[in-house]
Amino acid sequence: VIDIKNLYKEMGYFTYDPGFTSTASCRSDITYIGGDQGELWYRGYPIDQLAEQSSFLEVAYLLLHGELPNKRELDTFNRAITHHTMVNESLKNFFNGFHYNAHPMAMLTGVVGSLSAFYHDTVDVNDPHNRMLCAYRIFAKMPTISAAAFKHMLGEPFVYPQNRLSYCGNLLNMLFSRPSEEFEINPVAERALDQLLILHADHEQNASTSTIRLTGSTGTNPFAAVAAGCAALWGPAHGGANEAVLNMLEEIGDVKQVPRYIDKAKDKDDPFRLMGFGHRVYKHYDPRASIIRKTCHEVLDELGIYNDPQLELAMRLEEIALADDYFVERKLYPNVDFYSGIIYRALGIPTEFFTVMFAIGRAPGWLAQWMELVTDPEQRIGRPRQLYAGPSKRDYVPLHRRS
Ligand code: ACO
Repeated sequence: VIDIKNLYKEMGYFTYDPGFTSTASCRSDITYIGGDQGELWYRGYPIDQLAEQSSFLEVAYLLLHGELPNKRELDTFNRAITHHTMVNESLKNFFNGFHYNAHPMAMLTGVVGSLSAFYHDTVDVNDPHNRMLCAYRIFAKMPTISAAAFKHMLGEPFVYPQNRLSYCGNLLNMLFSRPSEEFEINPVAERALDQLLILHADHEQNASTSTIRLTGSTGTNPFAAVAAGCAALWGPAHGGANEAVLNMLEEIGDVKQVPRYIDKAKDKDDPFRLMGFGHRVYKHYDPRASIIRKTCHEVLDELGIYNDPQLELAMRLEEIALADDYFVERKLYPNVDFYSGIIYRALGIPTEFFTVMFAIGRAPGWLAQWMELVTDPEQRIGRPRQLYAGPSKRDYVPLHRRS
């Protein structure tokens, strides 16, 4: 019989840290989160300045290349990304294999992973040119694949990317235009979407990014790694929370019901949690949530949606929660997902598609983190340890002798 306590002594020390709440898995130059002050910087630039003044394309360049682009660099980047928005025509066959009501995250995860079957030429991750080419391809094709999943859900023909449009204009066009109808891109919707994508672009070592780093540490190709990231993002405790928030608001239904649901969220015997509330790192208002909250009002006003019942419900929920000792003591504040769904819905995006929008926004961060990982000389294959708590060593008992 092995004495487990002594076995661990012999093996030396390592930390037991379920959920990695206090273990840094890497050094990174990309994103800083000041959880106690509610700060978020990409490459040193505060998120509020980027959200107000830059564009998603500029932010993607910043994340991928480390510096903001000058005008010429941005134009070149724009041309390169536009050049890669098309997908191989045979990719349509992948969508045809999905049932019309497949969850769009299932389609996105599967189809992004399948890109590795089309780009054998660039999957050598040791070549810097290949790495950047893969990153550009994934970043450029995410909206095309996502919009194809959307059209497949609706049973409508796919809309091809149009190079004259902006990144977000193109996405809106691929989502909402139909061959037989005139479609005009609403500039308010285009800007709001651009801002939402900026706010989602990176968030250091969250679950999906860590998944990409762990997967990437094996030397696998970035298409496979990003597919793994999509799968991790899908969960309701992570990127699926924006979908869960709207479902929750729907379930609450009426402002009068808010106190009852706040009580449910506090009840430890009830699995209900206030979706869009709380964060592993922020113990302060999520800076992205305050920007989105403001944008939410602006977008609804601009689109002529006044007194939106779900926005009123969300604000009442926030007001009551933030005055409640349970939430105050645990430092639970609205996170990025609390208001984003209300904007997506106002733009005409259905609830089950919200996490796909999150994935489009997060793509440049995932790719920057993947490139940082594969070029970091300190990185080794990710291989967490465990604290074994099972039975001690014992002898096999033949079937006929087991009671
Ligand atoms: N509603 C009610 N209670 C909550 C909530 C919530 N949303 N979030 C945390 N708590 C409570 C926990 O029950 C726990 O209470 P206890 O100390 O009495 O046991 C305490 O607050 C700490 O919570 P943990 O679960 O330990 O915090 P953790 O850092 O592990 O989880 C998480 C963070 C997953 C975001 C959590 O707050 C949550 O489930 N929120 C709802 C889902 C959500 O909005 N996810 C999106 C996150 S942001 C993003 O991914 C983009």
